[in-house]
Amino acid sequence: MSNFMHWFIIIISVGSFLGCLWLIWSTSKPRKGEAAQGEETGHTWDGDLAEYNNPLPRWWLWLFYITIVFGLGYMAFYPALGKFAGTGKWTQVKQYENEMQAADDKYGKLFKQYAAQPIPQLASNTAAMKTGQRLFINYCSTCHGSDAGGAIGFPSLKDRDWLYGSSPEAIKTSILDGRSGNMPPMAASLGGEQGVDEVAHYVMSLSGAPHDASKATAGKARFVVCAGCHGLEGKGNQAIGAPNLTDDIWLYRGSIGAVKKAIIEGRAGNMPGHREFLGEQKSHVIAAYIYSLSQ
Ligand code: HEC
Ligand code: HEC
Repeated sequence: MSNFMHWFIIIISVGSFLGCLWLIWSTSKPRKGEAAQGEETGHTWDGDLAEYNNPLPRWWLWLFYITIVFGLGYMAFYPALGKFAGTGKWTQVKQYENEMQAADDKYGKLFKQYAAQPIPQLASNTAAMKTGQRLFINYCSTCHGSDAGGAIGFPSLKDRDWLYGSSPEAIKTSILDGRSGNMPPMAASLGGEQGVDEVAHYVMSLSGAPHDASKATAGKARFVVCAGCHGLEGKGNQAIGAPNLTDDIWLYRGSIGAVKKAIIEGRAGNMPGHREFLGEQKSHVIAAYIYSLSQ
């Protein structure tokens, strides 16, 4: 915080308090020419409607004073005045750390117990899976959807199609270390537009999607440049996250346009690693939850 902000905040805050005090004090003083307390003010409306000059009720006035004293105490205790840390030395970070510590004390034992169980066994523990689901919704649903059904570019985690494998170890590795699938732009190695078109029709034919048969036949020969990653039959390769192109389950879209886009521009899906952020034990419980979805 700059010195300017430091003083700016102090002056505005303290000034507001002094302003309020002055306002109460000045308005509760009798003014010149005013009717005495309890007398009629001399104003009349509608012929006979008069007004008494009664002061604010005492208790009401005191509420104002008490609020001001409370506010001053609050500002002294908490870090409210610029760089001044407050007599209570309270910080958001400290509060966060205390809450995390309390949560660790409360749930740490449970997570430790869960982490000691193999994933397939943990996946049939209802209480653990409820926890797993909550963690998933907190940390994973922004990308994979709250039902784990995925979205374009973000794989569904509840079907039987896996980019990197369905084993408990593969799922846990995906979560802990993240994954990145890299397909380079391929148009040049297909000799340009015509080659792209033919291979795209061949890719469509692999899953029985509507395609042009003669283009697909021509594309088949060209598919060898793809085979290094997607396999000769197009069944994919889980070691590098190359999708199976024969199953009509798509990471992006299963249209001829989307397939051409993949070939021309390449694709690079990225899943961030969660090892540091979630730690081994929570990741273990989430992995079991993901595992349970596809069982
Ligand atoms: C920022 C978005 C994002 C977040 C957050 C995210 N993921 Fe992912 N995840 C992806 C993407 C994208 C992929 C596919 C990577 C690729 O294309 O190679 C993926 C892949 C995966 C895979 C591999 C799927 C397969 O078919 O093999 C698993 C398992 C997975 N994520 C689980 C999770 C879990 C559990 C969480 C929460 C802890 C999570 N992800 C959080 C984006 C995300
Ligand atoms: C270097 C390895 C590599 C090569 C070569 C390669 N791909 Fe890919 N391809 C991948 C990877 C990895 C992905 C997944 C990208 C991601 O996770 O975002 C992918 C994704 C795709 C997709 C999207 C699939 C989906 O489910 O939406 C299509 C279509 C595709 N590739 C077709 C091809 C074709 C056709 C060729 C040859 C012209 C080819 N690829 C060459 C690695 C490769």
